[in-house]
Amino acid sequence: MAAYQFTDHKFDVVVVGAGGSGLRAALGAAQAGLRTACVTKVFPTRSHTVAAQGGISASLGNMSPDDWRWHMYDTVKGSDWLGDQDAIEYLTRNAPAAVYELEHWGVPFSRTAEGKIYQRAFGGMTKNFGEGPIQRTCAAADRTGHAMLHTMYGQSLNHAVEFFIEYFALDLIMEDGVCRGVTAWKLDDGTLHRFQAQSVVLATGGYGRAYFSATSAHTCTGDGNAMVLRAGLPLQDMEFVQFHPTGIYGAGCLITEGARGEGGYLTNSEGERFMERYAPSVKDLAPRDMVSRAMTIEIREGRGVGPNKDHIFLHLDHLDPKILHERLPGISETAKIFAGVDVTKAPIPVLPTVHYNMGGIQTNFYGQVVTKSGDDPDSVVPGLYAVGEAACVSVHGANRLGSNSLIDLVVFGRAVGLHLAETLKAGDSQPELKDAWTDSHAARFDRFRHANGSRSTASLRLEMQKAMQDDAAVFRTGESLQSGVERLAKVHASMADVSVSDRGMVWNTDLMETLELDNLVGQAIVTVNGALNRTESRGAHAREDYPDRNDGEWMKHTLAWLDQKTGKVTIDYRPVHAYTMTNDIAYIPPKARVY
Ligand code: FUM
Repeated sequence: MAAYQFTDHKFDVVVVGAGGSGLRAALGAAQAGLRTACVTKVFPTRSHTVAAQGGISASLGNMSPDDWRWHMYDTVKGSDWLGDQDAIEYLTRNAPAAVYELEHWGVPFSRTAEGKIYQRAFGGMTKNFGEGPIQRTCAAADRTGHAMLHTMYGQSLNHAVEFFIEYFALDLIMEDGVCRGVTAWKLDDGTLHRFQAQSVVLATGGYGRAYFSATSAHTCTGDGNAMVLRAGLPLQDMEFVQFHPTGIYGAGCLITEGARGEGGYLTNSEGERFMERYAPSVKDLAPRDMVSRAMTIEIREGRGVGPNKDHIFLHLDHLDPKILHERLPGISETAKIFAGVDVTKAPIPVLPTVHYNMGGIQTNFYGQVVTKSGDDPDSVVPGLYAVGEAACVSVHGANRLGSNSLIDLVVFGRAVGLHLAETLKAGDSQPELKDAWTDSHAARFDRFRHANGSRSTASLRLEMQKAMQDDAAVFRTGESLQSGVERLAKVHASMADVSVSDRGMVWNTDLMETLELDNLVGQAIVTVNGALNRTESRGAHAREDYPDRNDGEWMKHTLAWLDQKTGKVTIDYRPVHAYTMTNDIAYIPPKARVY
């Protein structure tokens, strides 16, 4: 479009997003001598990884013997057998090396008396193929993500990653199915940019903000997922949305699962430790989907706490204040600020809160974006990678285990770096950028910039968030999901009537929030349609009208495409990888998921 001039840049690799996975991928590419840009909406150390608390899983065996095969077993079982077992093997066997790499880079992990990395118990992590809880989650107090992010940012600067900070990514530059780069809007001066690259890596995080209450930062709008949908590619398994059991009641802030790992427990209005009934062997350290459902059932059956009996108590008040100070200082402060609770004296009011998206951009374990093409369910999209919460590798399947996210970021971030190093040559020639490849990006930007309708962005966002919160919650039914589909179709239609009042280009937060909302709406539509379509219960997708897991029909991944104009979703499937990467562990066949 003539009205908009783009400033052009050329790199070997462009990474979009500067959270844990983006920084690890960028670092790997730069270490290999590839000229690497990292384009990020927020300052790198403000990326949402900074909020990760409890830790990063790896079978180091510092507290008791451990084995990556046990970790693999737990991850497969935690995923309710929807995870791809080749990718899960890749994750769990490479996890210890990834943690030692972080240690050597300077992550200030908490320590045991002998000076080893301290590990705590987390939900669903067990010893000897399911025998009982194990301490596998490596922790830097309850600020593990913060420690990792700052360390990796320093290392990225050291390896000459070139940062483009507060650039809002708009769309993928695609030519006949090949990714050639990405466009972005520089927020502080209003200029538009085209970043051309041999390969683009999307590390843009999840879309928790499609919901009303989420532990995710307000920046978590899944911008990369939405770009993929606009590029005509599918998203995978979007119906699987994780609720973290312990968001602070009312505020939604995260209270780490590490709190239960250190001995915290949940009670209902009768003072009962109710998890003993739902998961007799691991109790409060059951996987998140199970704990969230148990809490919801307790509240529904009238055993919630508080004047409205609508939440649950998390007790830490029996723990030694010294331990709380040493290992859980962050959440002790958060509980004080957001719930007015002194954790040494009183329980924290908590409620399951949206925390993580298991679904996202379909990739293989090198991080290459793949899609279904003809008979090939895993056909590579040249020039495009995805990693972190934006990606669906899929190692988490239908339910992620706590602390398997931070390890996913660094193991697959590293895998992307290694694959780029192996397949790209620094400075290789790239085709001349054509305006025709980016005209639609400028047109979409311009349409929202001049939007002159009658609906405010905030009102439409609230409508979307309420629909998701009500209709695609911990428990779902065909009826609630049908309602969600209809409510979101209305929001989608209303986007044509949105109003943006600021027409400027510089720090136009009105326009940025509208572009983010447009990104969120597409993902919300795909989520509720996928959930309505999947007529079984598996992991975090709990259908009251289809309460059982149905492996015969549904042990398969959902792929969903979105028609941007009509808001209609097309669904197809691909098989779960029911095989491992090597012969070091056999395929783990499905069985009942009992803890
Ligand atoms: O509870 C937590 O600290 C969150 C960890 C995670 O989501 O992996």
